Amino acid sequence: MQPGYYFEDSVQQQERERIFARCWNFVGFAEQVAEHGQFLTVEIGGTSVVVQNFQGELRALHNVCTHRFAKIQEEKCGKRALTCPYHGWTYDKEGTPFIPGNAKYFQLDDAGRKARALRSFKLEQCGRFLFVRLAEEGPSLPQYLGPYADILLHLSEIFTDQVDDQRSLWQANWKLGVESVLEVYHVGLVHPESFKNYVQARWEIDVGEGFNNGVAYLSENSAKWWDGVRQRLKLHQSQRFPNYDHFFIFPNLAIGLSHGCLMSVQTYTPLTPQTNELHYRIFMAASDLEAGRQAAVRKAVVENVTTFNRVILGEDQHIMEQVQKGNAQMSMAPVHGSNEARIRKFHQHWHHWMSLASGENAKRD
Ligand code: FES
Ligand SMILES: [Fe+2]
Repeated sequence: MQPGYYFEDSVQQQERERIFARCWNFVGFAEQVAEHGQFLTVEIGGTSVVVQNFQGELRALHNVCTHRFAKIQEEKCGKRALTCPYHGWTYDKEGTPFIPGNAKYFQLDDAGRKARALRSFKLEQCGRFLFVRLAEEGPSLPQYLGPYADILLHLSEIFTDQVDDQRSLWQANWKLGVESVLEVYHVGLVHPESFKNYVQARWEIDVGEGFNNGVAYLSENSAKWWDGVRQRLKLHQSQRFPNYDHFFIFPNLAIGLSHGCLMSVQTYTPLTPQTNELHYRIFMAASDLEAGRQAAVRKAVVENVTTFNRVILGEDQHIMEQVQKGNAQMSMAPVHGSNEARIRKFHQHWHHWMSLASGENAKRD
């Protein structure tokens, strides 16, 4: 990947059309939109999308009113009818507007109102993970996720207790955000007091068919700490992922698991070519404790893991903002060692989608 790919407008425009419009994008969790009227909004490649619950049915629609183009839902999530805040056009699950004063001012018949319907997008879910695709044609979500479909189903069952939800604006291209989590080569220097003590300097990578995974082994102290937490809080630990297991699903979903007890879910959404928004959520495994029991222990654990995560992500943000500045001064391509093979795999995926002509979007490497 040439350095220019991290800051050029033309590259971002192509990414919007070739990657973000054609791939399945992770947008949120089913529990955020479980009830009628609940919604969440996301930006996908420059398109504002609302996922809204209509009497139990989820729909993904363009979040821009077709009257005079105000954004309809302004919040990241909430509970509210799909009503434009400007003049009150209200949309149904097909995206068709009910128009206040229609008979008097517009005289639109059914066909006329339908012609003003919001664009509708593909929405599928895997367990509690919701995905949206803007392009009409393309692989189904299970095809797209390949071996990750089964993993997301498993994680959906285990990690049901959300303990944090944060966003931060990075002065760095979204791809640098992604790259920050795909290797542990940087851990000793960038995270000397935090992540370095958390894991052993032992790391295995799987960039085989369909995968972009890494597993590190927790340090003895962290494993002990997590075992204590698991017992005190009676957590339903994932037996499948007992280490520090990390997954990346193209284009921008990263998932890290700690001792099968904690899951961190991160997305790096491109804003401008030189900025991205990190959105991360932390979940603990479900617990067998009755509500209210061990409240002080739980509070201390939540405080510990949320602070720890914030520190690490802040350290990553700092270094990647330096990398962004450095890229602008270079004309050669970066070089990746074998310990950075997950970044190479990410770049392969990126080139794959960028080089597909339109109409070829059903393919996947
Ligand atoms: S712009 Fe939405 S109702 Fe007028
Ligand atoms: Fe890091």
